Amino acid sequence: MENFTYNTPTLVRFGRDAESETGDLVLQQHCKKVLIHYGGNSAVRSGLLAKVEASLTEKGIEHLSLGGVVPNPRLSKVQEGIDLCRKEGVDFILAVGGGSVIDSAKAIALGVPYAGNVWDFYSGQETAKACLPVGAVLTIAAAGSEMSNSSVITKEEGDLKRGYRTELCRCRFAVMNPQLTCTLPDYQTQSGCVDILMHTMERFFGGVPTMALTDGIAVALLQTVMKCAKILKQEPDNYEARAEVMWAGSLSHNGLTGCGSDGGDWSSHQLEHELGGMFDVAHGAGLAAVWGSWARYVLPSDPQRFAAFATQVFGIAPSGTPTETALAGIEAMEAFYRSVDMPTSIKELGVEVSEEQIQILADKCSFQGSRTIGTFRPLNRDDMAAIYRMAK
Ligand code: NZQ
Ligand code: ZN
Repeated sequence: MENFTYNTPTLVRFGRDAESETGDLVLQQHCKKVLIHYGGNSAVRSGLLAKVEASLTEKGIEHLSLGGVVPNPRLSKVQEGIDLCRKEGVDFILAVGGGSVIDSAKAIALGVPYAGNVWDFYSGQETAKACLPVGAVLTIAAAGSEMSNSSVITKEEGDLKRGYRTELCRCRFAVMNPQLTCTLPDYQTQSGCVDILMHTMERFFGGVPTMALTDGIAVALLQTVMKCAKILKQEPDNYEARAEVMWAGSLSHNGLTGCGSDGGDWSSHQLEHELGGMFDVAHGAGLAAVWGSWARYVLPSDPQRFAAFATQVFGIAPSGTPTETALAGIEAMEAFYRSVDMPTSIKELGVEVSEEQIQILADKCSFQGSRTIGTFRPLNRDDMAAIYRMAK
């Protein structure tokens, strides 16, 4: 077991009608002017944006809005937000949306007090020293950005999708009303569920043994999300299932399921980020498309860990060699993905990837061969290309 720091400073207001308390929560931040940041049309269509604006107005809080964040949020929108905040003297960013909106809000918050280009943080050239405070009204259970320390942005030039982690950007508060997620198309609901599972699994498959308690929490979380994802396929308005998934989304990525581990192996996420950057696919669906190939590729490094996953998560009785049990667990996970109409290959994502594109993906993911990814089994450029090829 590794030493760890557990830092979850985000106040969570969870439940029906929670969004009507947004004004109160912002008031407690003692800010002068708020930027409400949102995505395409969903928050406008549902009336959520108007409700949040009214909640701020009611408390006498000055605010302005900037919409237009797209999935796989773009650097150009972040830049627009930074310019607007500086011009208007904004000192608090309120994200109303999903992971993309929250990540864009965090990037704006990092960029406003920084004299250089905010991409410097995402490219690894600089470390952030300041960040405007950010809050979130969550509309999709998926990325976990409402409680995480990270933000993922895509730079249009070069289609580079890169993440940046800093404790500075954790949301001050997160408003979570599971009812708000009932308007999600099934594909987004299921894609979100995959992302939640993957945040937990990427921590489960780290490079060192973790704590029994951490494993137990992870297993309960995985089983709950899979059960609820299936319920939501049939009953998208089921409040209890929406609530379980929404809370799981936050717990899967606020650090809880990584306590005592080495932080996890984020290879599937890194491999997906290149697919997202190049083909603009939904993040969770992209993860489902590559995970099985990653798992089979790295399995020989520690079949026992995969066998434990099979037994603990799916109740598969150990039989034959650990590798046989492990493979049965990987197949069970893929069978679950298929049962909720999630892809288990890049082709099923709707992308025909050529050998030349596989080389480009591996080049980008390995930073032109200068880094490896993962800890369960560190992967170099050739390994990455091999996994993309298997996942094709
Ligand atoms: O733009 P609108 O119209 O709001 O539509 C969105 C978007 O098209 C729609 N949507 C959201 N809430 C809705 C809704 N539609 C109907 N009803 C609602 N209540 O859903 C679509 C997807 O939204 P998005 O915010 O992109 O989804 P998600 O939360 O999955 O975020 C994905 C992004 O987060 C990053 C991913 O890489 C990706 O860019 N991640 C961020 C992380 C973090 N900051 O900690 C960690 C993750 O691993 C992930 O990498
Ligand atoms: Zn993710």
